Amino acid sequence: MSGVGPPPVPHSRPWITAEDEAAVARCLRSSQIARGTEVAAFEADLADLIGARHALTTSSGTQALWLALDALGVRPGDEVVVPTYVCEAVAAAVRQCGGTPRLVDVAPGWRADACAVAAALGPRTRAIVLVHALGVYTDPSPFLALGPPVVEDFCQTFAPARFPPRGAAAVYSFHATKCLTTGEGGLLTTDDDAVAARARARSEVTGGLSDLQAALGRAQLARQPAFAARRAAIAEHYLEALPRRLTTDYDAVRRDSMGFRFLLTGIDFDTLRRVAGARGVAVRRGVDALLHRRAGLDDAPFPVAADLLARTCSIPAHPSLGAPEVTRVIEAVRAALEAGA
Ligand SMILES: Cc1ncc(COP(=O)(O)O)c(C=O)c1O
Repeated sequence: MSGVGPPPVPHSRPWITAEDEAAVARCLRSSQIARGTEVAAFEADLADLIGARHALTTSSGTQALWLALDALGVRPGDEVVVPTYVCEAVAAAVRQCGGTPRLVDVAPGWRADACAVAAALGPRTRAIVLVHALGVYTDPSPFLALGPPVVEDFCQTFAPARFPPRGAAAVYSFHATKCLTTGEGGLLTTDDDAVAARARARSEVTGGLSDLQAALGRAQLARQPAFAARRAAIAEHYLEALPRRLTTDYDAVRRDSMGFRFLLTGIDFDTLRRVAGARGVAVRRGVDALLHRRAGLDDAPFPVAADLLARTCSIPAHPSLGAPEVTRVIEAVRAALEAGA
């Protein structure tokens, strides 16, 4: 025995194939690697797929959100409604415009809560960020009816044909841990000519994607049907193999999920992390921390988010997982249950 086990199963991993390598190599050989025709073609592909009048690639999802909020007029003293159950980047984008995040609770099923947003509106509200978190889509209709412009954050939910954006703007992330990747990168879409023009003017100063990244993005975009099929197959496998009580909550939202995350509840996170980690399998919480806790606020106004943070375990479900890795994840969850998780 060498004592060397199989390689770790990471929680996220980009799915890079020979097609991606060939596309990037082609771009390299062309010597046109700065922002140029590949970026323009990627933006055209994305606008077409998403059904948006304008698509502007950016250096990150955070930059896309910042540019969207800035173009919608968020200025110092303004409030932007943001869910507490989200990564810090969303609050950072609001602050980048000089705005103040007005944090609200979420709804069960990892969804945005229109009632919580409505209760948070006030004279200083300039925009609402509706986050489609963890791959789960929330119907924007009740948010759009509230009045302030809605920016839909699709950074964790790339399935535009199924879930087309309907707000004043939408943002996406192409980070290596996201649904499709350009290494780092993002996208802002809008039907509003003035919003697009302001965001594009700003991005010319602050930077965006290169052709090298766009070449990778276009190759990844072309394979989205394969990504979706693989995610669906992995989810089916988990649903069949894992005890029902761990998957009931996720199963309830599955028809509104594009499968970015596979979420377990009813299992102790710390035990799962310890036992799975010892077997080389990485698991995460749904989010690492709640924004209101980072801001030093009490849990009382955010009971659903506090409950979701405590109960949600995200297991590897990225499309690059091979069958033996999926089996190792299942065995790790079973071992954690045996260890009392
Ligand atoms: C919901 C959400 N919004 C925005 C972002 C920011 O995206 P990026 O990492 O590309 O800046 C992330 C990334 O973690 C995210 O999960």
